[in-house]
Parts: sequence; structure tokens; C-alpha cells
Amino acid sequence: MMSGVMADLLSPLSFAGFTLRNRIVMPPMWSGQATPDGQVTDRIVEYHRVRAAAGCGLVTVEHSFVHPGGRHSATQIGVHDDAMVPGLAQLAAAIKAEGAMACLQISHAGSRTSSAVVGRALVGPSAVPHPCEPDGEVPDALTPEGIAAVVSAFGAAAARAREAGFDAVEIHAAHGFLLSEFLSPLCNQRTDAYGGNPGGRRRIHLEVLAEVQRRIGRDRAVLMRLGACDEMTGGLTLDEGCLAAEQLAAAGVDLLSVSGGLQGSELARRVPGYFVPYAAAVKAFVTVPVMVTGGVTDPAFADLIVRRGLADLVGIGRAMLNDAEWARKAVRVLSSR
Ligand SMILES: Cc1cc2nc3c(=O)[nH]c(=O)nc-3n(C[C@H](O)[C@H](O)[C@H](O)COP(=O)(O)O)c2cc1C
Repeated sequence: MMSGVMADLLSPLSFAGFTLRNRIVMPPMWSGQATPDGQVTDRIVEYHRVRAAAGCGLVTVEHSFVHPGGRHSATQIGVHDDAMVPGLAQLAAAIKAEGAMACLQISHAGSRTSSAVVGRALVGPSAVPHPCEPDGEVPDALTPEGIAAVVSAFGAAAARAREAGFDAVEIHAAHGFLLSEFLSPLCNQRTDAYGGNPGGRRRIHLEVLAEVQRRIGRDRAVLMRLGACDEMTGGLTLDEGCLAAEQLAAAGVDLLSVSGGLQGSELARRVPGYFVPYAAAVKAFVTVPVMVTGGVTDPAFADLIVRRGLADLVGIGRAMLNDAEWARKAVRVLSSR
């Protein structure tokens, strides 16, 4: 259940058996510092630790690939193999020791990568080039067996995150990566049970969610970063995104982190809080906590988003990248008002 009716940015939030000390979140932000085989490095541990120490309630570790075929870059963390667990354990422990909830984003890049990175043919829902990839490599359409393997890879990744000591995982279903592609009519042109209509396009999400829930166990939380709207003609609409959110919440997702954009969210010339309208729309459909990220830099504005009930938590991306002390300063400023 969610906490008090008079929530603000600094008030605790309880969900899925965890209590966050506040609603300030470090959203996942790839740092490009993993080893070539996907191992966590000391620099990655420190990058997350200092931001946890500054006072974030929740730290979500940058996207980690669940399967080599879904790797996004050569410097990305992997959670695809048991050999990754000790490094991930150091990362989870460092975040938790600083008082933040530790969450690992688990991801498959689909066709939003290149065959040079994955060393094999790309995969996607359909054999169409990604609308946002300039090289236009055409992926292989996943077979039903291939989809089952992806679902299983997400589950295995969640089990490794659990073993490493993370409190939660966040399933990446935004920014044009594989699950976002499945939701998008532009990328998903399947006519089988995994496409053809809105229910078909979100079938894989429900299967991934169920498998992750099964493998991570009931004492951990399962979050999903949902691209609620593609922002492209012919793509996923906000209406359909809200219905997906409703169905995911009914299936037991513990928190929805609302994002958007098939091309990725951090475009230039966006207004502050550019996804707040999407988060508020999603909130009308669900009772689980909803997080929003995008263009928020001012603590007072982040506080207002929560006070107005437009979202329950606020992710601070580039502002926290540029200033690791953002959370500490926000707590000081808001506490002294
Ligand atoms: C350098 C960088 C790396 C990012 N890596 C990820 C990632 O791994 N997973 C993800 O879901 N979003 C990623 N994002 C998107 C951010 O989480 C966030 O949604 C975006 O920066 C917009 O928020 P902001 O305006 O507060 O920066 C990244 C953004 C940046 C700038």
C-alpha cells in the first residue's frame, strides 16, 4: 500500500514490503564503464554509491543485458551469466549500505543495437528495421521459441539479481528496446499471438513479468519502466500505453516508471517534466506507485509533482549525473522551507 495522503518529495513511500526514505530516484543511466565481458567495475560501484549516499530513496542501476543477443554496447553491464553475480553483489551492497533501495534494470536491446556489438543477427518482433536506427539493420523476427528464450533470460537475470542482493529489478520496456518494440505497431507487425492487436503486442510483457516474479521471489520487488507513448506517427499511443499499464498493474507489477519515446527520452528542447502528463495519465489507471523522469532539475518542481499527485516518485537523470550531490541539496532546500 502507498503511504500518506499528504505526500511530498521527502516523505517515505512504502510498497512491496519496502519503505523508501524519500521519493527521490536515481534513474538508470548507462555509464559506459563495464569490462568487455560485462563485469561491474569499481568505477560503476562508486558512481552509484555516491548518489545513494547523497540521499536518494531508490537507486536504479543502469541497464544490464539479460542475453548476449540483447546487448546494447560493449561497455554495458551484463546479468546474462552467473559469473556476473559477485560484481553485481558489490554494487547492490554499496547502494544498500548508503540507505537506498537497490534496483537493477534488466534489459534486452532487441534491434536497437548492432550485429557488431552482439556478434550475431539482431532480433526483434518483426523483420523490419528499427524506425530510429540510422543503419537500418533488419532483425530476424523472433520465433515463438525465441520469445520463450527471451522470457526465460529475463527470469534468469532476475534470479541473479536476487542472488546478488538487489531489492528489486526494473524490467526495461521503454526507449525502443525489445519490449518497447513489441508494444509498438511500427516495430511489431506480427500476426500471431504476440502481435496483431494491443493485447497481442503486450503478451510478452505479461509473460516476462510472470517469469521475473517467479524467479525473483515474493520478498523482492518487480518494477517496469514503461514507454507509455512512442511519440511517432503510427506508433504506440498514450491511450494504449495506459491500458498496458492497467493490465501490468493487475498482473502484480509493484511500480511503474513512466517514460516514453521510441527513440529514447532525453531529446533536446523538451520542457521541464516533459513526461509528467504521461505519468498523470497512467496514474488514473493504476493504484501502484508511479514514477516519472524527464527534464526535472529543480527540487521545488519535483516536490510539486508529488504534492499535486501527478506522480509518486521523481527520477532525476542528467541533473544527478552532473551533480552527484543533487539529492543532498534537494533535501536541504526542501527541509528548510
Ligand atoms: C547518459 C545516459 C544514460 C542513460 N541510460 C539509461 C539506461 O540505462 N536505461 C534507461 O532506461 N534510461 C537511460 N537513460 C534515460 C534516463 O534514465 C532518463 O530517462 C533521461 O535522461 C531523462 O531524464 P532527465 O531529463 O532527468 O535526464 C539514460 C540517459 C542518459 C543521459
